Amino acid sequence: MIYLDNSATTMPKPPQVQSAVNMTLRGAANPGRSGHKLSLAAAEKIYSARKTTAGFFGMEDETRVIFTSGCTMSLNMAIKGLMKSGGHAVVSSMEHNAVMRPLKAMERMGVTVTKAEVFAGDDDRTVDSFRRSINAHTKMIVCTQASNVWGIRLPVERLCALAHVYGLYMIVDVAQSAGVVPIDMKDGYDIVCAAGHKGLYGTMGTGLMLLSESVMPETIIEGGTGSNSADLTQPGELPDRFESGTPNLPGIAALGAGIEFVKSKGIDRIARHEFRLMERLYEGLSGISGIRLYTAAPENGRFVPVVSFNVDGHDSEEVGEYLSKSGIAVRAGLHCAPAAHEAMGTLQTGTVRVSPSAFTTTPDIDKLINAMKNCKRFL
Ligand code: ALA
Repeated sequence: MIYLDNSATTMPKPPQVQSAVNMTLRGAANPGRSGHKLSLAAAEKIYSARKTTAGFFGMEDETRVIFTSGCTMSLNMAIKGLMKSGGHAVVSSMEHNAVMRPLKAMERMGVTVTKAEVFAGDDDRTVDSFRRSINAHTKMIVCTQASNVWGIRLPVERLCALAHVYGLYMIVDVAQSAGVVPIDMKDGYDIVCAAGHKGLYGTMGTGLMLLSESVMPETIIEGGTGSNSADLTQPGELPDRFESGTPNLPGIAALGAGIEFVKSKGIDRIARHEFRLMERLYEGLSGISGIRLYTAAPENGRFVPVVSFNVDGHDSEEVGEYLSKSGIAVRAGLHCAPAAHEAMGTLQTGTVRVSPSAFTTTPDIDKLINAMKNCKRFL
């Protein structure tokens, strides 16, 4: 199978990630719970992954790196932890349900939301639409750094500056961009939420909530931390405050190894490789009649390397099924981001989405282009 569904999760995982998981499965105890050597060694592994992660995202204090079960959990913790007392949030027209659904669920607590339109290729208009969405009750801007459907990047650095002019929190979802776009907490974001298993090459079931010095959300989950056990109040110290329960040691070790993999290859090099492939795909698909592309060609700086398309007269799921039968794995449908489809008029059909990784090759892309050249005969 040619795997081009890396925005859902990267596959394969680098050898060093596989070894990291294996090592923890061969002999690791529960970290931070017991005083014996195996428990201490496990805690040391987590500390090392935390340190690596902090360095990768430009953070000085590694205790502000919170390991979670995924980007969805991180976004829930960030949004619900800051909006418990109600208020207004501004989101973009490209958001994933990981942002939209927690906010929707909070409507009954008096939370309101405004969707600011994103103008691909016109950052001034995008920033202006966010500015016009802010009102007297606004508490936060929460948006993705890049659309998981269209690859369109949002000017999050400028939106962060805008948020701070108005005294708002800036929360960024980097699920699709971490590993191909550099993200530095020193740029002023209050909270950055990441998936561990996509561009950071960790395993599924891992995520990150990165906290700046200026923010301390309320907790939405409490429990055992291995610290201050006599006290029934959740500890305030980081990272314990947000990491109740036995940690996912295999996943955290894998995430540390995945980030080391990205560092060793270099974000720029990975991004250049993936963009070269997506440009080739875009050009190939552009020459096939009946294929509809919705955005400009994916260009480094304005996009992340993802291409979404449709075949005229066919539902995206049909095309996805045809490709699967042809030995090519892509994702079709709404990609859990109906807002992004509404913005582009593809809510009814969804799209066929192609997403590469550092391991994708030119022949992989050429096989997809060939399959699409022949698709009319089979659909
Ligand atoms: N959110 C993931 C995707 O875009 C799963 O496919």
